[in-house]
Amino acid sequence: MEIIRTRDAMQQAVAAFRKEGKTIGFVPTMGALHEGHLTLMRLAQKENDIAVCSIFVNPTQFNNPTDLERYPRNPEKDAEAVSGIVDIAFIPSVEEMYPEQPTETYDFGDLEKVMEGPSRPGHFQGVGMVVSRLFELVQPDRAYFGKKDYQQVAIIRRLVELKKYPIEIVPVEIVRADDGLALSSRNALLHPDKRAKAPFIYRTLKQAKEMAAGHTLQEVEQWIKERIGSDSDFELEYIQIADAETLQPISSFADAAHVVACITVWLDGVRLIDNIEFK
Ligand code: PAF
Repeated sequence: MEIIRTRDAMQQAVAAFRKEGKTIGFVPTMGALHEGHLTLMRLAQKENDIAVCSIFVNPTQFNNPTDLERYPRNPEKDAEAVSGIVDIAFIPSVEEMYPEQPTETYDFGDLEKVMEGPSRPGHFQGVGMVVSRLFELVQPDRAYFGKKDYQQVAIIRRLVELKKYPIEIVPVEIVRADDGLALSSRNALLHPDKRAKAPFIYRTLKQAKEMAAGHTLQEVEQWIKERIGSDSDFELEYIQIADAETLQPISSFADAAHVVACITVWLDGVRLIDNIEFK
């Protein structure tokens, strides 16, 4: 595996692969890698001639400076973890990615008006800024994203449409710990006693999915609110049952062919997100 730190070197490597007619699979990450990321990378390697990952904690997608500061970073361990899986790890500095103050904006429409949009103002604009820069540099044939960030996958698809990138977006199922907690870099910030309680979030979503067969959407949503509220260690930021394609709220399960429930919960000062597809 080669570690590349500059845009110029990345462009040269891509040009050489293209000349040889090789396909490129790409996995963008913010590091603090876990099995979820490695699953994406293994898939990228399997489905393409060359697998590239990026490791870059993107400042423009953090609306909260404390969150950016606290975001777990583990560059040496990350480089070791990906070394047998990808061909190239692109690990740029902030100056390399943003030599000038970024000013571009993206019209993500209603997708940006729900859930993470209002909760983290500017977050998806920042994701758009970094992912478009990375896509233009790496020029992948396919890019892999975890479905834990369900809304992000929809945003990236919209970005690809807006910018007309010839890139296939591959969404990949959530990888969970044995106890059901969705793997996330942020899990490392939980104290062990709180980490032990965290699977409560997914257990609640699974029960809600079972309930959906015999209850209205409003009843299910209310039940989730009460259940999360019943343990004072957890603070619900939002639960939204939505059309899985548009991510817009629906008022009945019959309103959409595919339905997803997305949740954001605070535990131990850590913001955890998860989701479940109902149908
Ligand atoms: O999902 C993430 O880790 C980030 O949002 C991404 C896509 C790497 C952009 O910084």
